[in-house]
Amino acid sequence: MSPVVTPEAIDAPVADRTPLEAPTEPTVRPLTGNTGAEVDGVDLSRPLPPEHQAVVADALDRWKVLAFRGQRIGHREQIAFARQFGDLTYAHPYDDDPPEGFPEIYTVSPERFAQQYGLSEEAARKVRRKYSYTNQWHTDVTPAVNPPAASVLRAEVVPEYGGDTTFTNLVAAYEGLSAPLRAFLDGLRAEHRYGAGFARQGVPTTGVISDKQLVARHPVVRVHPHTGERALFVNPGFTSRIVGLRQEESAALLDLLFAEITKPAYTVRFRWDPGTVLFWDNRATAHLGPQDLDHLDVERVLHRVTLIGEVPVGTDGGESELIQGEPFRSLPVFD
Ligand code: SIN
Repeated sequence: MSPVVTPEAIDAPVADRTPLEAPTEPTVRPLTGNTGAEVDGVDLSRPLPPEHQAVVADALDRWKVLAFRGQRIGHREQIAFARQFGDLTYAHPYDDDPPEGFPEIYTVSPERFAQQYGLSEEAARKVRRKYSYTNQWHTDVTPAVNPPAASVLRAEVVPEYGGDTTFTNLVAAYEGLSAPLRAFLDGLRAEHRYGAGFARQGVPTTGVISDKQLVARHPVVRVHPHTGERALFVNPGFTSRIVGLRQEESAALLDLLFAEITKPAYTVRFRWDPGTVLFWDNRATAHLGPQDLDHLDVERVLHRVTLIGEVPVGTDGGESELIQGEPFRSLPVFD
């Protein structure tokens, strides 16, 4: 609970005011009507008491993305914080060089990303941002049969202005559609693969993506294992096609769904400061890295860990299917 400020306390002359105590309980302050909240009164450098863990977990289920400001933590504490909510994956399916001693940490690095993905210089210029690794809306690692349940991203170095990350609520997006369209989507499956979004932008990928494919088929509408909510589980970064539809039908339907999930009504935009930590529900959100920095010469370094996810389940109870690769767990996906 927030410290209580009585009207008398506010009206008192400054010299007479009793200093407010620092909050000892987490407070959750929603940021928009659909998505995102700031959580105060939590120190991520220490283990959270069980009742605080419960507040955070409930807020994550409700608001999908939580911001913790002013945290003084490094890789070790970030990992320890995330582990209170589940086991962690290896850094990233295509990362073969996480920081020494921290195989769970994925540092958001455009240069390494372009190299790993086998992008030519021209392709890299076209599809990636200078300061994050992709220019597209995406949900983390959906080409895996078990995409991460949640992600924790920590800012180490950020520009003085610009470089925000935007999130959307995929449950709100599903609920915003008409009932007949929701019923149609409930029965569909979609293929997710690395490089799908690049291909849609006319950029072929070589290197590790074509040599070591990770491909899964997920329900287009996923049932959240905690809340039972239905989420529109497609994203422009990784969803390649709707299974069973003709190519032009699939492309038109995906265009409609991508327009739906990115409607401003479902989104929230976060400004980063050093020490800001974002914790998001990767089952029910998609996000977009900064779009406003490519003409600037600034530094931006963030570190991410992801919680191991279960295999998604559709509204018919059917599970996602692994088409190529391995599940994304604590060891590297590819040797
Ligand atoms: C991410 O997709 O995890 C990184 C987002 C960002 O760079 O803002």
